[in-house]
Amino acid sequence: MVELSLPRGSSVSKGKTFGKQGKNKVVFNVYRWNRESGENPRLDKFFIDKSKLGPMVLDALMFIKNQMDPTLTFRRSCREGICGSCSMNVNGTNTLACLKPIEDKEINIYPLPHMRVLKDLIPDMSDFYKQYESIEPWLKNKSNPKKENLQSPEDRKKLDGLYECVLCACCSTSCPSYWWNGDKFLGPAILLQAYRFIVDSRDENKKERLEELKDKFKLYRCHTIMNCTKTCPKNLNPAKAISEIKKLQVTS
Ligand code: SF4
Ligand code: SF4
Ligand code: FES
Repeated sequence: MVELSLPRGSSVSKGKTFGKQGKNKVVFNVYRWNRESGENPRLDKFFIDKSKLGPMVLDALMFIKNQMDPTLTFRRSCREGICGSCSMNVNGTNTLACLKPIEDKEINIYPLPHMRVLKDLIPDMSDFYKQYESIEPWLKNKSNPKKENLQSPEDRKKLDGLYECVLCACCSTSCPSYWWNGDKFLGPAILLQAYRFIVDSRDENKKERLEELKDKFKLYRCHTIMNCTKTCPKNLNPAKAISEIKKLQVTS
């Protein structure tokens, strides 16, 4: 019989325990990995009295870093869902730690799935940003280079539900098509951004932008599984943006 074994470094072992169990304690199980140690990833346990914490998962991570283990590594900046940097997987759902309330007695925290990990909760976003750059996310308008580029209130409204995207990648890293074809499929976050420029009345490159996406991988790997829309912490609808691009490709 064939025996399969996991590649070295892929199994997560039991880690260290900080603090003790208790009546008002919440336990945070946090993924840890440091490539320099040469060891497998581990899951550390942190028992914390809920009364000492602010309301959000990010508050707990800050508490751990400041009071229990200063080596814990994660990204954050604004702590109000604007910068998009604290994206991670909390109790099985990709979300922004600063928008996720501490509601359970036990909370598991992992980095975003299917991304290379740099350290602890920090994924390598380089490929994601390269894909963003590939859609040329800036307004292209040659007719009016020196004047203010006006837009009617109706046209401005078309950007609602798109401009709010903080490029946290929660949606793309919850998409099975992106897991398996992330090198060629642009994924929901980048496609939502592409649509944001396609429908902007101030942009003159709509036709070229649509043409650029006519590709069986870049756009058409989306199979409308909808994980992206379910997980978006900003309540946006990338699956709808993708279907609108597909519609425009046959109608314009
Ligand atoms: S709707 Fe498309 S982009 Fe969104 S999760 Fe499904 S396959 Fe991925
Ligand atoms: S659509 Fe939502 S989940 Fe996706 S990158 Fe933008 S804000 Fe994040
Ligand atoms: S810290 Fe900026 S989105 Fe969470």
